[in-house]
Amino acid sequence: MAYAFEMEGRPWLLVRSGPTLAAVSAICTYKGSPIRWDRRNRLLSCEGHGCTFSLHGEPISGLATSSLEVLKIKVINGRVYGARDLS
Ligand code: FES
Repeated sequence: MAYAFEMEGRPWLLVRSGPTLAAVSAICTYKGSPIRWDRRNRLLSCEGHGCTFSLHGEPISGLATSSLEVLKIKVINGRVYGARDLS
């Protein structure tokens, strides 16, 4: 399941796949098209030219060579908190 949200004026996806919860940028690193969650194949897919990315934002197939930006997230008392990884 995936939830779209906006942070700092940009679209993001919060995705749960099995035990994994991840928050990734919903903008493709190739040419900036929207990213959607492909539930059947359990990967992130670009609507532009079909690049695919892992739940952790790493490119799997297609022309994108850079990873999607990923937020560090924590779930505390059922609430999800996210922050940029500044390391
Ligand atoms: S913009 Fe993502 S594959 Fe083209």
